[in-house]
Amino acid sequence: MRYITTPIYYVNDKPHLGHAYTTILADTMARFYRLQGYETKFLTGTDEHGQKIEQAAKNHNNSAKEYADKISLEFKKLWDEFEITYDIYARTTDQKHIDFVQNIFLKMYEKGDIYKDEYEGHYCISCESFFTPTQLINHLCCPDCGKETSLLKEESYFFRLSKYQDKILKWYEESDPILPKNKKNELINFVQNGLKDLSITRTSFNWGIKLPKELKDDKHIIYVWLDALFIYVSSLQDENSKFWPAHIHLVGKDILRFHAIYWPAFLMSANLPLPKFVAAHGWWIQDGEKMSKSKGNIIDPRKIAHTYGLEAFRYFLLKEVSFGNDGDFNEQSLINHINAELSNEFGNLLGRIIGMSAKYSQNYIDHKDVLIYFSEEYQQAKKHLKEAINFLEVLQTNHYLEELFKALNVANLSISKYEPWNLIKNNENKKANALISLCANILAQVSILLNPVLPNSTKKVAKALNFEISSKTYQKLILNNELLDFKASPCEALFPKIEQKSQKENEIKQENKAKIKIEDFSKIEIKIGLVKDCQAIPGSDKLLRFELELEDNEIRQVISGIAKHYNPKDLIGKQICVLSNLKKAKIFGYESDGMILSAKSGDKLVLITPEQLVENGSLIG
Ligand code: ME8
Ligand code: MG
Repeated sequence: MRYITTPIYYVNDKPHLGHAYTTILADTMARFYRLQGYETKFLTGTDEHGQKIEQAAKNHNNSAKEYADKISLEFKKLWDEFEITYDIYARTTDQKHIDFVQNIFLKMYEKGDIYKDEYEGHYCISCESFFTPTQLINHLCCPDCGKETSLLKEESYFFRLSKYQDKILKWYEESDPILPKNKKNELINFVQNGLKDLSITRTSFNWGIKLPKELKDDKHIIYVWLDALFIYVSSLQDENSKFWPAHIHLVGKDILRFHAIYWPAFLMSANLPLPKFVAAHGWWIQDGEKMSKSKGNIIDPRKIAHTYGLEAFRYFLLKEVSFGNDGDFNEQSLINHINAELSNEFGNLLGRIIGMSAKYSQNYIDHKDVLIYFSEEYQQAKKHLKEAINFLEVLQTNHYLEELFKALNVANLSISKYEPWNLIKNNENKKANALISLCANILAQVSILLNPVLPNSTKKVAKALNFEISSKTYQKLILNNELLDFKASPCEALFPKIEQKSQKENEIKQENKAKIKIEDFSKIEIKIGLVKDCQAIPGSDKLLRFELELEDNEIRQVISGIAKHYNPKDLIGKQICVLSNLKKAKIFGYESDGMILSAKSGDKLVLITPEQLVENGSLIG
């Protein structure tokens, strides 16, 4: 049995590429578990309470519930469009979740793990997280997201997190639950530094779950993280309760702390078993910063999927980054992956198999001689498939895909090496047919293992070769090593090549990318300078040595590479433009203090001069 979850996403804003990545990765895992024959539950959903949502709703003149309904539906619609195979779409505003959280709170309270006191400290609304003054940046800002925190002083219930410090450390040691493994040490350090009891109720706003009525304390609402984390359990009621504990909680690294420290402590307090893995992936970044709505650097996943196809998009996300690392979203790289891998290695192989079998064996592909002629190649491909499975188990999707494509490469290389058309010419029909069968069997097995990432394209392969992708064939072909006979039929090209964008378009993109802010421009100082003297530099056919007057009596020397375009004498007395706050440099042994600006027109360099006489040293801006 396997239960996998995504974080439940805040409904303060629309889904973006980062959310899509987590969800697609979890979907891939869920599909993989089903393929392996596990009874599987896959949960995603939305996190709808708390101060941040209350504020977002206010900003949109909505009630909190109206707003949550709207955005929660946006997420759900996107996941449906993306054919995400979630079993549970959970919302923290569901009554059964609210009841569950109140019950658990009471249980933890009765156990003595919750007590009432006063909280004084800082709170980041964006992260819904508490901080002590020493954790803040510049005494004010959130160490996680950089936004200003607010100072809180209010009555609050506390959870005895400190009591669980050693138990959490023991869990890390004994169960090794953190993926990737290298994240474990960070957590151990954090916990060893000491865990303070955690404030778990708020009184200064309303949008949240009330305390259990038994506590008769109406003004408190439950801290949104305590509320949200328990969705993973509250969503598994009745016959589904057997799916707990979760096999994997998949999260972004931004919220690993909540899942790897608070969450196990809450669970131990509630006497519930702990998850097997908490797996933290890296961030999609743009221009060096985490993609997030508040930074205004988000990519709309729908747009990418519409432009390049959902499956190519899935493939790209899982291939481009190593699990746990950050990834920079780059459209050119997406195009390269489609052309080089999906189209060349995968799609073309199917085309070649269909073509050859039509020509040489009336579409029938018989496996009986494969191991006689190509046992070595087959074993080699098998080895890659096995590796691929090991990688995917621990979410190393990039290596898993690499291994699958290495297996495809065994097939593609065998075709170029043994040249079936020549085998036929030389009357080696048996060997030619065995070669086609080798390729078809490799392609079929790779398609089964690729199915979690490319569900529709791999089904097209299955249809074209007349086999089935299911947990049954996973058992038979992947695990039990069976070879199949196939009957091929025509199929449209998988992943047609994407035309490279024209040079021009790329240049436009480059320009856009290089756009700077006005603050960047203000760092640049361009001034008008009068050419007092200008000489050729002996030994160089490119360089001229200028003496320029910028301010009165301030003469500076600038070396410029325009000797081929001007006679130095003609320039004396002219006013020109100089980048005047450039760091000094030595050029050809001469000090140069600035850069003379010129326009490039074809092969020619043309100096820029003011349209009227202006004061020397005038600033350009
Ligand atoms: O944290 N790159 O919700 P959230 C990759 N409600 N993944 C990203 C990303 C990026 N740039 N930005 C967001 C919350 N994500 C809580 C969770 S769970 C009980 C409560 C993904 O809407 C990533 O999975 O801020 C991250 O953990 C999640 O979105 C945060 O979503
Ligand atoms: Mg967030």
